[in-house]
Amino acid sequence: MLMSFNPLLRIENLSKSFKGVKAVHNVSFRMREGEIIGLIGPNGAGKTTFFNLLAGAIQPDHGHIFFNEQDITKLKPHEICTLGMARTFQIVRPFKELTTLDNVVIGALSKEHDMSRAKKNALEILQLLDLQDKANQQAEYLTLPERKRLEVARALATKPSLILLDEVMAGLRPNEVDTMVDILQNLNKQLGLSIIVIEHVMRAVMRLSNHIIVLNHGEKIAEGKPEIVTKDPRVLECYLGEVAA
Ligand SMILES: Nc1ncnc2c1ncn2[C@@H]1O[C@H](COP(=O)(O)OP(=O)(O)O)[C@@H](O)[C@H]1O
Ligand SMILES: [Mg+2]
Repeated sequence: MLMSFNPLLRIENLSKSFKGVKAVHNVSFRMREGEIIGLIGPNGAGKTTFFNLLAGAIQPDHGHIFFNEQDITKLKPHEICTLGMARTFQIVRPFKELTTLDNVVIGALSKEHDMSRAKKNALEILQLLDLQDKANQQAEYLTLPERKRLEVARALATKPSLILLDEVMAGLRPNEVDTMVDILQNLNKQLGLSIIVIEHVMRAVMRLSNHIIVLNHGEKIAEGKPEIVTKDPRVLECYLGEVAA
């Protein structure tokens, strides 16, 4: 299908192999500003590798990444972050000995060198993530859902226009998942934040995504509207494989 919008993100034939394993293979797609894309696929499909490529943590073997039509394929992670792309990590890793607030202040200082303004920004972000009551608590003592929200807060502190969320709802109870979905929808609407979510929790994927992309063995096997993609036989088949494994 021909798309005529100016994409926020344009991925062209992106590939990355590890010792012969095609972790990401020839993936292309476009994303509009303000969209929420769900990136799904069984374990080992290449989702996290794909985020690592976008964020500049690893270099692709082939292909290109354009962010606001600028070729960012060879840029370093901090350069990509400065351009407005932020990511979370599948394994949450806050600075445990620091307070919740200071964890977010550190992120804010990447864009804001005035300490009092960085602190003010950080407090606003804590409020958006419903963590304001935990501001002075050491991050080590946060609950899992709070740590997941802190991970999002730290990424948001760098003032991104696009945020990449790697399984921020894994391990959460259904009501905690709903809270996170509400928060993310609010960020999307209030800040115009564009979001790509890697997520196994289908309840969250279906509620959040405008568009779903399915990876299997590194390849994009389907994309489109959530209710259509999740009924696609190829998609069902790759998940059945996972259940049987
Ligand atoms: N740094 C790495 N070195 C070697 N193999 C890797 C590395 N990172 C990922 N892989 C392999 O690439 C494939 C995709 O992994 P990953 O991107 O983590 O999948 P997902 O996030 O979809 O579960 C897997 O086969 C995995 O073992
Ligand atoms: Mg992963």
